[in-house]
Amino acid sequence: MDFDIRSLTEQDIPAMLDTTALVFGMNPVPETRETWKTLVPFDRFVCAWSGDTLIGTGVSLDSSLSVPGGAVLDMAAVSAVTVLPTHRRRGALTQIMGSLLDQAVERGETLSALWASEALIYGRYGYGVGTSHYKASIDSGVLAWPEPGELDDVSLAVVNDVEDDYKAIFERTSRHRAGLHVRSDAWWRARIFDDPEYRRDGGTALRVLRTHRRRQLTGLATFRHPNTFTLDGSAPVQIVEMYADDERARETIWRFMTSIDLYPTVTWPTMPVDDPLAYLVGNHRAVHRTMRDGLWVRILDVPDALAARTYEAEIDVTLKVTDSFRPALGGVFRLTVRDGVGSCQRTEDSPDITLGIVELSSLYLGGGSAVQLAAAGRIGGDPGAVIGLHHTFRTVTAPVCQEVF
Ligand SMILES: CC(C)(COP(=O)(O)OP(=O)(O)OC[C@H]1O[C@@H](n2cnc3c(N)ncnc32)[C@H](O)[C@@H]1OP(=O)(O)O)[C@@H](O)C(=O)NCCC(=O)NCCS
Repeated sequence: MDFDIRSLTEQDIPAMLDTTALVFGMNPVPETRETWKTLVPFDRFVCAWSGDTLIGTGVSLDSSLSVPGGAVLDMAAVSAVTVLPTHRRRGALTQIMGSLLDQAVERGETLSALWASEALIYGRYGYGVGTSHYKASIDSGVLAWPEPGELDDVSLAVVNDVEDDYKAIFERTSRHRAGLHVRSDAWWRARIFDDPEYRRDGGTALRVLRTHRRRQLTGLATFRHPNTFTLDGSAPVQIVEMYADDERARETIWRFMTSIDLYPTVTWPTMPVDDPLAYLVGNHRAVHRTMRDGLWVRILDVPDALAARTYEAEIDVTLKVTDSFRPALGGVFRLTVRDGVGSCQRTEDSPDITLGIVELSSLYLGGGSAVQLAAAGRIGGDPGAVIGLHHTFRTVTAPVCQEVF
């Protein structure tokens, strides 16, 4: 191994920005120097060094994630993972991920999660696909909306004027939808309210649509125009995030977003897979959807994680969980669910079901299918027990994460 693994100091931030920018094929953004300082203590960076040269980076943000039933768990949100092209495939990433996970376990964080640039990287470290979403593009002009029923009132605002509303509806949504990256105040500022130019991808500043019923907030969507006007309307309006308390608020948002003059195409890169738009309109083919993986989740503490979420069915099952990257985190666990509430302990009993930490982590937020994973040979055991696991873990509301970090 021709490198050391250690943290960063404040003086190393420019080198960190240069390395990550180079690896992701961008110019470094000097404005982010100050942002990083406010967002993450330096000891949460784990980097690879060849002498004094930074050759690899990784960081674990101090974050939280909503899980089924509304609990919000501590999560090591892994980001800025890079290794210089001159030093690849010598084990630097494996060392970085090992340290990031060991530190998270030491701090008592229950979960880790990340967005993966490529599908083949993170399974070896115990991460499974925990949320999926649609990359959606909507031909607004040909949706064939039926006559509307009762809708909510709408108003437009700039993002800085709606801080309380945004946080309130986000918090309400986290109680019934898993997969939300629950932001710290510093993160809200850096990611949403400061809305820095370099994060706009050429689009306008964030615009906010709010829906109201009897003056109470019922929904909110943020979006950007493309910041360039084309006569053929080829540049789309992009939805960034959307949260609604109920289906009337959601329909109000959709009717507004799909009737903006001069913009016949609306995109939403992280549409929840249970969004009803395609079934609200007459022409479902005008809602083009491509399934993508979202958050990759890794359970760090099986008993704590399984006891923290709620379940859709009762079960009493023994799970043998193999964790090949960090074997001590695996083992045999008994999960008992009564009235939707789980309890989970290590046990010496023989297992009903065998699976890897990757598969358990994919099922955890409620979007995965135990039956499908068993069909692929990735979950073993009695078929009846697998079907029971399927019904217990799967949630009515699809988990989704609308923020790439
Ligand atoms: C992905 C990246 C960090 C890997 O770094 P690395 O130091 O070369 O990885 P390692 O040498 O530790 O590789 C560990 C294992 O993962 C495999 N691996 C690493 N990157 C892989 C990839 N992109 N696709 C498939 N396998 C990969 C290696 O072959 C190795 O397998 P092995 O243990 O069976 O030998 C590096 O290639 C990179 O910076 N890529 C561009 C940026 C990026 O995609 N970052 C991830 C953001 S989410």
